[in-house]
Amino acid sequence: SQTWLIVPAAGQGRRMGADKPKQYLTLADEQPVLAHTLARLHHAFPHARLVLCLDADDRWFSPGWVPFADWQRVPGGNERMDSVLNALHAMAAEGDDVVMVHDVARPCITVNDLQALYQAASTHPAGALLAMPVADTMKRADNQSLSSRTEPRDGLWHALTPQGFRYALLRRALETARQQQTLVTDEASAVEALGERPQLVSGRRDNLKITHPDDLALAAAIMAAQAANLPD
Ligand code: CTP
Ligand code: MG
Repeated sequence: SQTWLIVPAAGQGRRMGADKPKQYLTLADEQPVLAHTLARLHHAFPHARLVLCLDADDRWFSPGWVPFADWQRVPGGNERMDSVLNALHAMAAEGDDVVMVHDVARPCITVNDLQALYQAASTHPAGALLAMPVADTMKRADNQSLSSRTEPRDGLWHALTPQGFRYALLRRALETARQQQTLVTDEASAVEALGERPQLVSGRRDNLKITHPDDLALAAAIMAAQAANLPD
């Protein structure tokens, strides 16, 4: 069976507010975020097949940034889940192939975390996602930002990517979410809605999703620390 990677990279980066989508901003070594993310994925899974979701009007993409021998590009959709569904519909996968979905905006992903996620995704029938336990005290606020209570943080996790599932389950989950018009922001929530329980895999805390302008310098610092083998 095949191993697949879907990389949604069709976002506009509105919160970043730069002159181009954040995946094309330069990080270390004069390489864009997208090139770093694909290089990390390729390092962990050199024989995987890549499906890259790109905006139909994308003016910045260069195929020279793709290290995979076997890859295809599909158009993005309105929401992230639509981009991933376009990938699932375009790829020639078997039902039990493992499919991992990873945000292009997370270039600090490590080979170790990728391998741990793959291991869990191929073992657990309901799939798996990288996640990290919530460390801060969680507050529930009213609409004026007045803190009304403290939520117990036991059992609360931040959901990260990649998230990995068997092709048939992932496709059924996202198609169901779209039919029911529920907007899901990650694959695991669509799978949970089917009554399945994906495995949480504790990942590194430095698997940052580049979102706001400050995050670019933070990602560069994380990569420098990783290259120097500093603990996260
Ligand atoms: N994405 C996508 N298709 C969309 C929306 C998002 O492929 N219609 C991708 C983004 O490129 C990113 C990932 O989904 O890799 C996570 O989305 P997010 O961090 O929200 O990125 P953007 O949507 O680009 O940023 P913003 O929400 O600030 O506009
Ligand atoms: Mg977005």
